[in-house]
Amino acid sequence: MSVKIAPSILASDFANLQKEIEMLNASETDYIHVDIMDGVFVPNISFGLPVTEAVNRHAKKPLDVHLMIVNPDQYLEAFKNAGAAIISVHYEACTHLHRTLQAIKQLGCKAGVALNPHTSVELLKDVINDIDLVCIMSVNPGFGGQKFIDNTYAKVKRLKEIIFEHGATTEIEIDGGVNKDNAPMLRAAGADVLVAGSFVFNSSDPIQTIKALKSIE
Ligand code: DX5
Ligand code: ZN
Repeated sequence: MSVKIAPSILASDFANLQKEIEMLNASETDYIHVDIMDGVFVPNISFGLPVTEAVNRHAKKPLDVHLMIVNPDQYLEAFKNAGAAIISVHYEACTHLHRTLQAIKQLGCKAGVALNPHTSVELLKDVINDIDLVCIMSVNPGFGGQKFIDNTYAKVKRLKEIIFEHGATTEIEIDGGVNKDNAPMLRAAGADVLVAGSFVFNSSDPIQTIKALKSIE
């Protein structure tokens, strides 16, 4: 199975979103990564439900919604209705993570958990069989275009072991600062899904860039 590519539309041209989504539809994109920031959990505001709905009207690929918000439980159903196929909540924003994961699944979505750089993958051991996707943040969430944190490789390797030890089918996604230089090492460490924002959208030929990432062994 080849690595999955999830371009983050945070780095796309918001004034030409339809064109950007059509470009992704025509590419080897696996998931469209949708970054929701509330200005409370993270020090930035991106966009919310109406924009997600508008993206979904044109998208032919599943929406991978990354909620960087406090009280995510309050918005799960709304994001499902806006078109989310995968909903990832932050470990740091959930007091009752197990309950939140069940609520996401009851809506018919895949359930994801995102971890900030300081949060250990060991904390997911007891719920790993309930998680469809773990999003390991390789930057501090809030902004695109940041530098990749090298400790991520060790986290990916350890999480892969935990998944194996528990016989789980959880996918490992990496989010932040992904580019052609670190992608092969992330893949070798056990990454299943690579999010890429600025590396894709700031390139001169995003379709080719997605293809190049996708072809990583
Ligand atoms: C960061 C977001 C990322 C971001 C990735 O808070 O969760 O998805 O858009 O952008 P790049 O690839 O530019 O680091
Ligand atoms: Zn993200």
